[in-house]
Formats: sequence, structure tokens, C-alpha cells
Amino acid sequence: MKNSATGAAADTAAATDNLKPCNSADITGSHVVGRRILKTILLFVGISVMWIVLQNYASPFGFMPVSYYFSSSYSKEFYDPKLENVLRNASMKDKTVILTTLNDAWAEPDSIFDIFLESFRIGNQTERLLKHLVVITLDQKAYARCLVLHPHCYYLKTKGDNFSSEAFFMSSDYLHMMWRRIQFLGYILELGYSFVFTDTDIVWLRDPFQHFYKNADFQIACDYFNGNSYDVKNMPNGGFNYVKSNNRTIRFYKFWFDSRKSYPKQHDQDVLNKIKNHSFFSEIKLRMRFLDTAYFGGFCQASRDFNKVCTMHANCCVGLENKVDDLKLLLLDWRKYVALPPNEKQNSHPSWSAPKSCRGSIGRAMNGKTGHNR
Ligand SMILES: *[C@@H]1O[C@H](CO)[C@@H](O)[C@H](O)[C@H]1NC(C)=O
Ligand SMILES: *[C@@H]1O[C@H](CO)[C@@H](O)[C@H](O)[C@H]1NC(C)=O
Ligand SMILES: *[C@@H]1O[C@H](CO)[C@@H](O)[C@H](O)[C@H]1NC(C)=O
Ligand SMILES: *[C@@H]1O[C@H](CO)[C@@H](O)[C@H](O)[C@H]1NC(C)=O
Ligand SMILES: *[C@@H]1O[C@H](CO)[C@@H](O)[C@H](O)[C@H]1NC(C)=O
Repeated sequence: MKNSATGAAADTAAATDNLKPCNSADITGSHVVGRRILKTILLFVGISVMWIVLQNYASPFGFMPVSYYFSSSYSKEFYDPKLENVLRNASMKDKTVILTTLNDAWAEPDSIFDIFLESFRIGNQTERLLKHLVVITLDQKAYARCLVLHPHCYYLKTKGDNFSSEAFFMSSDYLHMMWRRIQFLGYILELGYSFVFTDTDIVWLRDPFQHFYKNADFQIACDYFNGNSYDVKNMPNGGFNYVKSNNRTIRFYKFWFDSRKSYPKQHDQDVLNKIKNHSFFSEIKLRMRFLDTAYFGGFCQASRDFNKVCTMHANCCVGLENKVDDLKLLLLDWRKYVALPPNEKQNSHPSWSAPKSCRGSIGRAMNGKTGHNR
């Protein structure tokens, strides 16, 4: 009994001696032990810090960094006072902007960008929306061209990227460009701006704000709409959406962007289709709605009624030339409709002459594979 107690005491003493080396008479020895302990503590602290950092940044699902709501996750990458100036200048009273992205190929004279801007001018009550449109240009030439035509242009510079030429559907440039766009839009939400994002190959013929759902966080146009705006089985098209800035949409964009790692070589729209019924959405209570193609149509599924159409998208179409040809036909049709006397607007039922060039372009370009192009 006594012996074991003494033994225990001795052990404790030895342990205590290790922890309090300064009590030891041997100064040099205690110094070495002290350094060793300091190293151990520093190593431990280092590992803990690294673990916390990895927890916060490496996991796409679940764990949100504690600091998430206090610091922007993208701010280092995108922070630019010029951007905030442009946004502020173009913003509606409720901090909403209309955004599009543009590269040189689409900005050339008599190309997509001209058609896009023209649609706002000949659309019904859409011209006034131009003062809220911010054009995010991806290269120097598109920026220069934008400045000639429009008051709100921003040049999103990216080291090492060159998005100036036509990025062919599903090439690695195309994918990179699309994902960078999602990341950038997430940053816009973090800045507190709500936005309507529109591809430039969409013509605006009526004010869409009158047809958006009032209580949705995220509403998105569809290639094919099945009649139920809540149904995640709809086929959304990332080229047109209205997103309100709040904590839910900020988390959603981060989740969407991070999900690209789980689905490599797929674009944002396909990944959205994969994740849209993920339990994450009900966890964060994101209110997601799908927009009716009766108002927000395209070449996949047209908005048939000229008295209803807000936007028409050159989707289900591959190739810049094809898009330009068919969008021009749309504007011709619209001009004819607008020129009709009021009673004929209601009673004649015009139909679109497009798609013509776009029809079949998907099959040719994708070699038989199906896909929904912007
Ligand atoms: C703000 O927007 C107006 C047009 O709405 C434009 O004329 C002006 O140059 C813009 N100012 C800045 C600082 O961008
Ligand atoms: C344009 O909008 C106004 C106001 O909503 C409406 O009175 C008019 O009929 C519309 N014109 C067309 C061509 O839709
Ligand atoms: C980007 O690519 C275009 C066409 O491929 C080329 O003309 C241009 O010089 C490139 N720009 C830069 C900055 O590399
Ligand atoms: C997010 O939530 C926090 C705390 O609930 C709140 O203070 C903040 O204003 C919210 N941010 C946005 C953009 O809604
Ligand atoms: C999502 O949909 C897929 C196929 O439609 C199904 O297999 C999966 O279980 C669904 N996930 C959830 C969380 O509902």
C-alpha cells in the first residue's frame, strides 16, 4: 500500500518536474525541456488553426464557417471600389440591378449585344430598365465597345484568363467562364445587391418585374416548363434568373459554386439540375420557383402569346451566327406585332418565324448528344 502510494507520488513528482522545469536546479537542462514544450504547444496550436481553416473552406456541404456572416468569402478575389460605384449608379431604389456578361465575340457590331440593347428600346416599357443594366465585360475589347453604347460597364479582370473569343459550348474555357460567373454573382449578393441576371442572347420585350413571384428568393427561367412553378423537375436555364440578396441566397450560391467539385466537367446549369432537390435547400429554407415559359420563353419552348411574352432566349441553339440570325427574326416579328392596331393585337395570333438557323444546330454541334445550350 505505502509503497505503491510512494511510487505514485514519485511518478507525479516526475511529471510535475517535467511541467515545471524552472524548479529544477539544472538551468541548462530546463531550458532545453522548456523549448521542447514550447515547440509542442506551437505545433498543437498550428494544427488546430489549420484544422479550423480546412473545416471552413474545404467542405462544400454542411459546415458553414462561423465567420461566414461576418466576412465575405469572395471579397479578396473580387473586391474593387469601381464595381461598387457602377452598381450604386445603376441600382434601383431597392438595391436591385440587371446584370449581363459580355465578351468580345458577342460585343462585335451587328452581333448579339446590339440586338440585346435594341430589344429594350422596342420592347414595351423596357427602355427605362436600361438605366439599371450593368454590363460585366470579360475582356478589354468588350469593355471598350460597351462604353460606346451603354452608361454602366464594368471590366471584370481575371489574371490568366482570356475570354475574348467565342467560347465553344462545353470547352474548358466555356466551363471556366460559366463557373466564374456563378462565383461573381455570389459576390454581388454578398454586397447586398439583388439582381436579374440575363444572358445577352435574350431579347427583352416586356418588363419582367410584373411577372416575378413576390415571395421567392431565387426564380429561374426554364428550357422546358411543366406547369408547376414549384416543381424541381422543371428544366431550369441559368441564363435568366432573379435572385434576392439574403442569407439564404448567399449560402445557396456558395453551395452551387462549391458543388462544381463534386461534378467535374459539368456546367453550372447541369450541376444545378443535380443539386436542385438536395436536402440543403430545405435546410436553409430557400424559396425557389421556376418561371413560366409563357412569359419567359425561348427556342426550346417558346412564349407563344405575343400579348404575354416578356423575354425570349436563343436557347437550344449552338453557334453565334445562328443565334444572331434567329434573334433578328424575333425582333422583326415583334415590330410587326407592335405595329398592329389594338384590336388586332388581341385577335390576330401571330407566331414566331424563329428558330430557323438554330433548329438542328444542337444536334450538329453536339454530335448527337442532348444538351441545353444557353
Ligand atoms: C452614372 O450613370 C449615369 C447614367 O445613368 C452616367 O451618365 C454616369 O457617367 C455614371 N457615373 C458613374 C460614376 O459611373
Ligand atoms: C404596353 O404596356 C402598357 C402598360 O402596361 C399597355 O397599356 C399596352 O397595351 C402595352 N402594349 C403592348 C403592345 O403590349
Ligand atoms: C485573347 O485571345 C484573343 C483571340 O484568341 C487574342 O487576339 C488576344 O490577343 C488575347 N488577349 C490576351 C490578353 O492574351
Ligand atoms: C444574415 O443574417 C444575419 C443574422 O441573422 C443578419 O444580421 C444579416 O443582416 C443577414 N444578411 C442578409 C444579407 O440578409
Ligand atoms: C433527387 O432526385 C433524384 C432523381 O430524381 C433522386 O434519386 C434523389 O433521391 C432525390 N433527392 C432528394 C433529396 O430528394
